[in-house]
Amino acid sequence: MKIIHLSDLHLVAPGATLHGLDPQDRLRRCVAHIRTLHADAAFVLLSGDLTHGGEPASYEAARAILAELPVPLHVTIGNHDSRSAFRAAFPHAPLSEGGFVQEAFDTPEGRFIVLDTHEPGRAEGRLCDQRLAWLEHALQIGEGPVFLCLHHPPFRVGLCRMDRIRLLDSDPLLAILQPHLGRVRHVFMGHLHRALAGSWHGIPFSGVRGTNHQIALDFVTQDVAPVSFEAAGYGVVLISPEAVIAHLEELADSEAW
Ligand SMILES: [Fe+2]
Repeated sequence: MKIIHLSDLHLVAPGATLHGLDPQDRLRRCVAHIRTLHADAAFVLLSGDLTHGGEPASYEAARAILAELPVPLHVTIGNHDSRSAFRAAFPHAPLSEGGFVQEAFDTPEGRFIVLDTHEPGRAEGRLCDQRLAWLEHALQIGEGPVFLCLHHPPFRVGLCRMDRIRLLDSDPLLAILQPHLGRVRHVFMGHLHRALAGSWHGIPFSGVRGTNHQIALDFVTQDVAPVSFEAAGYGVVLISPEAVIAHLEELADSEAW
């Protein structure tokens, strides 16, 4: 099974730019790239930050551009999003009780659980008792492999500002995952605007670049997350009973994509 991991689109109002780049144009070209090369994917997993400022016009643009994806879309939101504006533009997106942008769905390779770590007005991520209880229930259905997707990493990665705005509720999350550790095959994350991979308490994870700007690999700067202009990218993940292979498609700033 091939899936596409897309993250951190950071769309702004039509005509506006962000860090000197046009996020809508870049997403449009990214979707065209996926249409050309990966129309055989099972679905796209979008791990949050569809918009930069949460404006309705940005969500309308996201809806229109993402409608061109050749395969189904499963999505959650990030710290830059607005839950209400997202729901208005994506009225058919599955929600969990309480209106959270969460869903669980089954695939031939296992159960995918998408978690909403957005906390209104905050940059860091949270999982309240209601969302954690929903996760606990979602894990109790079936005994097969599980894949998680969420915006905020539940651990530090060495980037000072991003570490302060990680998912703060990593301990309760880990406590819920603990009885299922042998089943959780992979965690797909956003937020970092970087391609990285590793493991957390034995659970493999990967993150991908954003489609607009990136965050520099800077382990020193404290107060801000310095923007970098490395190429945009998205993940192409190949999943079989034996392996999860996370590739990165780099989208160089050329006419080619
Ligand atoms: Fe982001």
